[in-house]
Amino acid sequence: MENYLDLRNDNNYTKLEQAGKMIREGGLVLFPTETVYGIGANGLNEKAVKKIYEAKGRASDNPLILHIANFEMLPQIAQNISDIEKKLMKAFWPGPFTIILNRTKIVPDIVTAGLETVGIRMPSGIIAQKLIEYANVPIAAPSANISGRPSGTNLEDIYEELKDKMDFIINGGNTEVGLESTVVRVINGVPHILRPGKITAEDIENVVGTVEIDEHILHKTGEGQKILSPGMKYRHYAPNAKCILVFSKENNKLISKIKELSSEYKNPLIIAKNENLERLKGVQTIGMGNSLEEISKNIFTILRKVDNYHPDIVIIEGVEKEGLGLAIMNRLIRACEYNYIEIE
Ligand code: TXA
Ligand code: MG
Repeated sequence: MENYLDLRNDNNYTKLEQAGKMIREGGLVLFPTETVYGIGANGLNEKAVKKIYEAKGRASDNPLILHIANFEMLPQIAQNISDIEKKLMKAFWPGPFTIILNRTKIVPDIVTAGLETVGIRMPSGIIAQKLIEYANVPIAAPSANISGRPSGTNLEDIYEELKDKMDFIINGGNTEVGLESTVVRVINGVPHILRPGKITAEDIENVVGTVEIDEHILHKTGEGQKILSPGMKYRHYAPNAKCILVFSKENNKLISKIKELSSEYKNPLIIAKNENLERLKGVQTIGMGNSLEEISKNIFTILRKVDNYHPDIVIIEGVEKEGLGLAIMNRLIRACEYNYIEIE
């Protein structure tokens, strides 16, 4: 294919010049970041950004993040930045951290879904950085997936669903983190985590002393409730099959519960830590890795595979809701549409 660039074993990033030009001229570019793949467009071009919403089938009230390559790109799109916000950016950029700031007039309404704030991130992934530099404009980019599907963490997972809608595709292999960035908004001087990610509550607390975790991270949005991050209210990551998330701090109890649940179904599928698979023999299983880092990297690819097994139930092992575990549980609770059992 003409507009395909494979950078998996190639560090000649000058090849990204053409992709950068494509962005600047209004095209859509599928590209890797250190978190997940993104569908990028010129963030200052309303028409180009509109194509992102069309390609994803995304609700028009769900705003996009602008990606920048350096601090010089910031004043153009954000204003009235507080000292705490500056401190956070300095600590976590470049990296998997998005901050919600007051926008400037130049940011098109379509990017922010009409809000007066704009989400901004400086990615650490080298391909993303070079792409933004070549484009020389902020890149608006949501996660690369059709809305509602798990985000793409490697090109194979998303190629079929997105290939016909992209003007340029960049293959960078597997993404490093595997979960989308932490989204933070500072309210009255206190950072609020609206979406958990690799940058944890503890990380933020260590920099500015306080942090709040938005209640919607693990709980369903009530009818008519005001929501700080529109993305939190949408069905996300869920396979077609019914899923249940199960967690206990005691592994024996967890295994018994998983076995008990699976015995009630004809064709159960269990997603569990590799170290537990031996004890779950006799039913179909998928190992998700052992460490939180491994689980983060693997979980979206696994969620995409689930329906191939045609299970009548999917039972997923949960993790402790701390550190990176909170981000994993946020995605899994959504995948299970809030079907969650925790055993003391
Ligand atoms: O890691 C990531 O953040 C990836 C990569 C591609 O950078 N991008 C990503 O974008 O996950 P997206 O669009 O899938 O998720 C952005 C989230 C959504 O939940 C959205 O509602 C929220 O950020 N968001 C964006 N702008 C916002 C704003 N002004 N106020 C509140 N929430 C905002
Ligand atoms: Mg997304």
